[in-house]
Amino acid sequence: MPKITITAALPYANGPVHIGHLAGVYIPADICARVQRLRGEEVLFICGSDEHGVPITLRARKEGVTSQDVVDRYHKIIGDSFKELGISFDIYSRTSNATHKELSQAFFKNLYDKGVFKEIRSEQYFDEHAGQFLADRYIVGTCPYCKNEGAYGDQCEKCGSTLSPTELLNPKSALSGSVPVMRETINWYLPLDEIQESFLNEWIGSKSHWKSNVIGQCKSWLNEGLRPRAMTRDLEWGVPVPLEGADGKVLYVWFEAPIGYISATKELRPDDWEQWWTGDSRLVHFIGKDNIVFHCIIFPAMLHLRGDGYVLPNHVPANEFLNLEGQKISTSRNWAVWLNEYLEEMPNRKDELRYVLTSIAPETKDSEFTWKDYQTRVNSELVGILGNFANRVLVLMQKYYEGVMPVVGAVREPFALFDRNLAGVSHPMVRDYISPVVELLNNYQFRDAQFKMMELARLGNKYLAEHEPWKLVKTDAAATAQVLSEAVQVLYNLALLMEPFMPEASERLLLQLGAGASVAERKLFWSANPQGVGQWCELAEGHSLGAAGLLFQKVEDDVIESQIAKLQATAAESAAALGSTVGTNDAAGEVALGIGDVASATVDVLAINAIKPDVS
Ligand code: MF3
Ligand code: ZN
Repeated sequence: MPKITITAALPYANGPVHIGHLAGVYIPADICARVQRLRGEEVLFICGSDEHGVPITLRARKEGVTSQDVVDRYHKIIGDSFKELGISFDIYSRTSNATHKELSQAFFKNLYDKGVFKEIRSEQYFDEHAGQFLADRYIVGTCPYCKNEGAYGDQCEKCGSTLSPTELLNPKSALSGSVPVMRETINWYLPLDEIQESFLNEWIGSKSHWKSNVIGQCKSWLNEGLRPRAMTRDLEWGVPVPLEGADGKVLYVWFEAPIGYISATKELRPDDWEQWWTGDSRLVHFIGKDNIVFHCIIFPAMLHLRGDGYVLPNHVPANEFLNLEGQKISTSRNWAVWLNEYLEEMPNRKDELRYVLTSIAPETKDSEFTWKDYQTRVNSELVGILGNFANRVLVLMQKYYEGVMPVVGAVREPFALFDRNLAGVSHPMVRDYISPVVELLNNYQFRDAQFKMMELARLGNKYLAEHEPWKLVKTDAAATAQVLSEAVQVLYNLALLMEPFMPEASERLLLQLGAGASVAERKLFWSANPQGVGQWCELAEGHSLGAAGLLFQKVEDDVIESQIAKLQATAAESAAALGSTVGTNDAAGEVALGIGDVASATVDVLAINAIKPDVS
């Protein structure tokens, strides 16, 4: 059976994770991993902290601590909060560990020995006060096009132009404010121009199943023509370049971080890790849109150039941005909802967050989170539709049958939920509900899949409203039993179908249904029948249900009012703090991943193609 390697972008360990990251990357990746496991596939779900790169050194500098301090702190915060939210990584590793250092150096050495790299001597901006070379975001100056004085070395955020450091008028170091000098240095470049001709054009061209935002961005890079890109940097923090005489140089963070997926696999499965990266193993990368070029062009080029059977990504379902209350999410302006804080403040609302973020996931275009909308979705959908259906069914079952499934026999026509003569794939409930959900999930349309899942709850409510068992019970005992057991079956299948989206609520509901639902039963539900599109599962007559309880709690006005107030207060605080410091280099400290943050942290002095913020 082919293996599936699912990766989620390694978050920079320079700050906690926020809702933009979750909606764009981690929740969809988790839903995907859970579904594949439920279907009995061999899955590894890989992630870890990205602990090198400029955002980390910048944060350390700002706080006056070491880079190691910063990554130790955030690696723990991020890892713990993912776990608590139920993100089911098989491993959450980190790129500062020994396995990763060894493997990424070996990877570099392998390409070096094959003669892949071009050794290029060039002049780069150097800050004599800070004693270091300056990457794009380390340099500010005046935009040659719109004369904005706060333009960065890679981009002017005012007019949107892509820049290179040498185009800036009056360049200044963002670190010390001094005027940088040019200094000569040697670096090793990946000849992307050659690889474009020999491989990338055709390979990307063959990816007709990729999302249009992803293809669009790749094509825009290719149309412009790729240029050689430096895979090493003159920096201290990073994985040392494993060559004689390369002191003071580290591997480019975008060279080694994706290798982190492989080293994490090796750490988890020391004996058979290679099987997950070769042969017919299927590789899927979940990322935000500002990571597209790295996962669709550079990393595949690296894997391809090794020429020793590494698999290339089969799918890269990158998402767009999530905004918050009408503004871009921003780490530096503290305009974000942080996962660790959310979990502390609302420890019993994990699945609510998963649900809301999936409902508004920026799958095809940027989307928006507001606390008001969060409240509405929880109250009218989770409480009002799903919770209400579950509660009505379970309470009536206790009331009329002491929670034991009544003997029904064949359901009479007017009360039947569906035609029982149809089976297999034509089973009406499989055809109309389960199989569409599975298909949408297979297509990476998590938002629609969850919506479809909720339609089963809507159907349940409609069915109850139509037959009113609370009235029927006064006149027709047999019909009441029929209606309520049909409703229980809907609820049971709903509990199974909810699992990848809301794993805890699913478990609670199964418990209330007195159904542990074994692994075998779940597998049957998710993958039985020749088409692999699931099966309608039923609880038997005489089965005892568990105790009814509330599945979700209403969100009261004061909860969201205090969240909004908090957001505004912390943003005002950090605006005041920003105003009193240099300010200019702050954007480089943004948590990248893109999902909501300015595509900022991708510092790239030596990439001749400057990073384009958003081509889609
Ligand atoms: N840390 C990067 C970001 O936050 C993502 C790295 S993904 C990897 O944008 F492939 F490089 F690991
Ligand atoms: Zn400009």
